[in-house]
Amino acid sequence: QQRMQQQMQQQMQQQIQARMQQHLQQHMQNQNLQGQNMQQPQHMQHQQHQQMQQDQYNQTPQPPEPPRQNQNPLTGAPYTPRFYYLLEKRQRLPAWMARQDFLKLMQSNQVLVLVGEPGCGKTTQLPQILLDAGYHVQMGQVRAICCVQPSPLATLSASLRICEELEVQVGTFVGHVTRFEDRTSGDTLLRFLTDEALFREAMEDPLLERYSVIILDEVHLRTCETDVLMGILKMVMQRRPELKLLLLSSSMDVKKVQAYFEGGAPLLQVPNRTFAVEVFHCQDAEKDYLKAAVRTVAQVHTTEPEGDILLFLPLEDEIDLACQLLRKESVHMMNFGDLQVRALYLGLPIMETQRVFEPAAQMKMMAGKPSRKVVVASAIAETSLAVDGITYVIDAGLVKQRAYNPRTRMEVNVVTPISKASALQRTSLAGRQRPGKCFRLYPERATSDWPEKVYPEIMRSSLTTIVLMLKRLGFDDVVHFDFVDPPSPEALMRALESLNHLGCIDDNGNITEVGNQACRLPVDPQIARMLIEAPAHRCSNEALSIAAMLCSLPVWLRPNDAFRAANEAKARFAHMDGDHLTLLNVFHAYKQQIQDGHDPSRFCAENFISIRAMRHAEIARDHLKRIMESIGLQMISTDFQDKEYYPNIRRCLVSGFFMQIACLESEKRGAYSMLRDGQEVMLHPSTSLGHRPEWIVFHELALSSKLFIKTGTQIKPEWLLDIGPRGYFDSQKISEKSSARSKLEKLTSRRSEG
Ligand code: CDP
Ligand code: MG
Repeated sequence: QQRMQQQMQQQMQQQIQARMQQHLQQHMQNQNLQGQNMQQPQHMQHQQHQQMQQDQYNQTPQPPEPPRQNQNPLTGAPYTPRFYYLLEKRQRLPAWMARQDFLKLMQSNQVLVLVGEPGCGKTTQLPQILLDAGYHVQMGQVRAICCVQPSPLATLSASLRICEELEVQVGTFVGHVTRFEDRTSGDTLLRFLTDEALFREAMEDPLLERYSVIILDEVHLRTCETDVLMGILKMVMQRRPELKLLLLSSSMDVKKVQAYFEGGAPLLQVPNRTFAVEVFHCQDAEKDYLKAAVRTVAQVHTTEPEGDILLFLPLEDEIDLACQLLRKESVHMMNFGDLQVRALYLGLPIMETQRVFEPAAQMKMMAGKPSRKVVVASAIAETSLAVDGITYVIDAGLVKQRAYNPRTRMEVNVVTPISKASALQRTSLAGRQRPGKCFRLYPERATSDWPEKVYPEIMRSSLTTIVLMLKRLGFDDVVHFDFVDPPSPEALMRALESLNHLGCIDDNGNITEVGNQACRLPVDPQIARMLIEAPAHRCSNEALSIAAMLCSLPVWLRPNDAFRAANEAKARFAHMDGDHLTLLNVFHAYKQQIQDGHDPSRFCAENFISIRAMRHAEIARDHLKRIMESIGLQMISTDFQDKEYYPNIRRCLVSGFFMQIACLESEKRGAYSMLRDGQEVMLHPSTSLGHRPEWIVFHELALSSKLFIKTGTQIKPEWLLDIGPRGYFDSQKISEKSSARSKLEKLTSRRSEG
C-alpha cells in the first residue's frame, strides 16, 4: 500500500512538473523567446541580453487578464470557490490596482522603491504580478523571483498565503527558505527567503544568478541584514545589469534608501486610502500598562460599536498574559457580544498566526451582537503582518528593541518607548477600512522626548555575524564597505576583534578554516565555535543538542494560574551545575519519550515545556548535525557513566563563549562582574543553578530593572587559561573593577611555580 502511495505521489509530481513546464513555455512564447534558447552557451548570453533589454524597452507592458478559465494552469486542478473569493479581494488591493504603473517602472529601471501602507498588498501581490508578467524568464533562462523578508515568521506567512492564493502546494511553484528549513525545489519560481537565507545563498552563488528579480521587503525597518544586503546587491547589480531590485517599504521615509543607489532609485507610491482616526491619550502615565490595556479593551468592547481591536504590547510574555486575562474577562462580557482573543508575535506557530487574519467567527451570535476580534500583538503587527478590519488600536507605546554595547560586546533586549513615526503608524492601522479610534496608554506630553524614528539597527547591533559573512563573501575591507548608514567604527573593530579571538579570522583579517566552517553553520559565531570544538572535547552530540535548544524558542511555559506547578516541573530537570545542562536534560527527556513510543505533547504539557520549542530544537539539531558531518566534524561523545561527561560539555561551552564569563563579587547580593569592563550583573531568578558559583559562562544578558545573566553554567577558572585564546585572559586585559583580575593572576603564578 505504501508503495502505491509513493507511486501516486511520484505521478502527481511528474504531472505538476509537466504542467509547470507548459506554463513556462507559454510565457516564453509570449516573450518571443524560443524554448531551445534555454541552454544558451555562455558566450552568447551577453549579446542576447542586450537585445532582450531593448525588446523590453520597446514593449508596452501587458498585464495579464485575471484568469478566466476555471482550471489552475499550475496544477491542472479546477479552481475552488475560495480561489475566486480571494481573487476578488486581491483585485481590490491598492497594490494590485497600481500594477500597470508598477510594471512600467520595473521595466525601465534596475532599482525601484515602492511605498504603500501596510496591508495594501505589497508582499502578497507584487511577486505574483511580476511572475504573471513573465519576469521569471530572463536571457532565455528560467530564473526565480526572490522575496526577502526580515523575519522567519513573515517569510513563512507570505509563502503560505501565496500558495493559498494560487492554490498550489508549498514547495512546488512557491516555497520558502528559513534558517533551518528549505521548502523549495528546483522548479520553485517564487522563493521567499529570510534575509539570512539570502546571505547564505550568496556565499554559494555570489552573483545570485538563479534570480531575475530580488525583492527586499520592509526596507523601512532598516534591519541590519537588509542594510548589508542592499550593499551587496548594489555590487551584484553592477556585474549583472539585467538583475532587477525591488525595494518595498511601508513608510514614506525612504529618501536615504533611494539616494543610496546610483542616480537615485525612482519611487512609486501606491495610493493610500486611509480614514480619519480619532486619538485619545491617557491623562497620566499608566504604571501598570498591562492592566490598563486589558481595561481599555473591555471598555471598547462594552461601549464602542462593532469593529475589531488591535492591542500593542512590547513583550511576548505580556501578550500571553494579556490574552489569558482577556479570555477570562470575556466570560463576564457575554452580554456585549462574544470577544475572540488572538495573539500575534514572532515565535508563534504559523497556524496560529494565520488565525489572526481570519475574521472573528460569527457562529456565536451572542446577545444579538456580532463577535469581535481582539488581536494582542508585538511590533510585528505594525507593518510586517498588518491585520485587516481593525477599527480600534490600543497602544502601550513601548517596543522591545535590540541594543548593543560595543564595550561589553553584548547585545541586550530592552523595552523602550516607540518612535513618533511608529506611534503614527500604529494609529493609522485603525483607519484602514473606515474611520477608527486609537487609545494611547500614555499622556501626550510624554512623547516630547521620544525619538522621531528608530535608528537603523546596524547602529545598535553586534556585527560579528555580519562581518564574518562579508569576509566570506570577499569584502575584505569591511570598514570601507558601502553601508547605507555606516555603523560606528568601534562596533566594527569590536566585531573584527571578536572574530579574531574566535579564530574565524587571522591577525591579517583573512578568513580562516574555522571561519569558513563557522559560515556554514547557521548559528552565531560563538555557538559555531562551540560546535567546531565539540569533537575535541568529546561531546559533539551534547553540544549539538545544547546549540539547538539555545537557538529555539523559550522552552519554559509560565502560565499565570499554575506558576508554582510550572516551577516544580522545571526543578525536576534542573542540573545544579547550570542552565545549559538543564536544557540538555530536557532535550534528552523529550527524546526519551519519543523513543519509548509516548506522545511527547503530553509530556510537554505535564511539565510546562513548550512543545513548539522542542519541535523547533529537533529540526534545528538535525539540520546542524547534517552540516557538521558535511564539514567533517566528528560525532564523538563521552560515555554517560564517565565522570568527565559533564565537565567535557562545560569545557566545550567555554571554548565558544569565553568572551561571556562572569566572576562572583558578592555572594550575598548575587552580584557578578563581567571580566572585560567590570560591569555588575546579577544572576537571573529563572536560573536553575542551585548555588552561586564563583565562575560562570553565560549565553545572554537581559536588561530590566538590572542587568541579568540568563542561561549560565558553572565553570572552573583553569579552563579559561587552558581553553581561551592565547593572551585573552592576561590580567592586564581584565578590568580592575573585577576580582577576576587578581584571581586569575594568582592562578597563573601558582601554575608557573608548580
Ligand atoms: O505587504 P503589505 O503589508 O502591503 O500587504 P500584504 O501582506 O500583501 O497583505 C495584503 C492583504 O492580504 C492584507 O489586506 C492582509 O490582510 C491579507 N492577508 C491575509 O489575509 N493573510 C495573510 N497571511 C497575509 C495577508
Ligand atoms: Mg508586507
